[in-house]
Amino acid sequence: MTGSGSVGSVTVHGAPTIAISNRLPEPAIEVLRAAGKVRMDERAEAIPREDLLELVAGADAILTLLHDRVDEELLEAAGAQLRCVANVAVGYDNVDVAAAAARGVVVTNTPGVLDDATADLTLALILAATRRVAEGDRLVRAGRPWTWGMSFMLGSDLRGKLLGIVGLGGIGSKVAERARAFGMEVAYHSRRPAPEDVVAELGAEWMPLERLLAEADVLSLHCPLTPETHHLIGAAEIAAMKPSAVLINAARGPIVDERALAEALAAGRIAAAGLDVYEHEPRVEPGLLELENVVLVPHLGSATVETRTAMAELAARNAISVLSGQGPLTPVSS
Ligand code: GLV
Repeated sequence: MTGSGSVGSVTVHGAPTIAISNRLPEPAIEVLRAAGKVRMDERAEAIPREDLLELVAGADAILTLLHDRVDEELLEAAGAQLRCVANVAVGYDNVDVAAAAARGVVVTNTPGVLDDATADLTLALILAATRRVAEGDRLVRAGRPWTWGMSFMLGSDLRGKLLGIVGLGGIGSKVAERARAFGMEVAYHSRRPAPEDVVAELGAEWMPLERLLAEADVLSLHCPLTPETHHLIGAAEIAAMKPSAVLINAARGPIVDERALAEALAAGRIAAAGLDVYEHEPRVEPGLLELENVVLVPHLGSATVETRTAMAELAARNAISVLSGQGPLTPVSS
């Protein structure tokens, strides 16, 4: 690094090169520009792999998005000077954390700042799936004849129903909070029990996954994607759910066996589903596209102006903090 720059109270000695794989909100770029040379791909969508590898060459820090695969090849392409990969997402299943650690590269993510937005979107999916909102919208737009009727397009209430949360982290807790406001009971499953004060405040009971599957009226997934959670919800787990149950996934697509879910929804083995994420994103299992009882949105969990700006700023501050020798603000756990 050569030259120097200053960001808030953080002084960076040298002028590091910071590569950004997509256009980010301006406030984050300003933070980075004050600290070093910014090399950014202006495209708003995932860039071709060869462009990404070229972009990162010689960078001291890289800001990546969830569709950028950060693996041995990319780390090698960046070079030995690379100090930090700041993923602009809370999930970091796109990053080979062990490979980065082996090279002394710090990996950070953006926990916390997207909890509310993602929980809001989750509730939107729960409401849309239980009250047939998207299906109703399609019916009206298609100009199909309808009149108000006692048994026309009935859904199900939330009050008194059990929300089963898989993964009671920041997002899961915010979902629980909102669900309580709708009169739902809340139970959860996670590998490690949540802190007692969180559980007491949310009034959420821990259950083994088998019991949660059997008892939940709405099952909502908020765990990270890891080798252990890949296809956590497959044909057998769906079969263990109530026929009236609704499955919500706003975490990561591969946690659910998407083909098994499409088959189960088509056969009426569960009532409905709401998906924000897909197993082979952005491709969607064709069987799902034909069904009325699934709400499909294009990975919008954190997609608000405020939240995306906060995520980008946190990633930028992480990169600068690492480059200035002050260590990461929000390192991922390996
Ligand atoms: C979004 O999916 C994220 O992990 O931040």
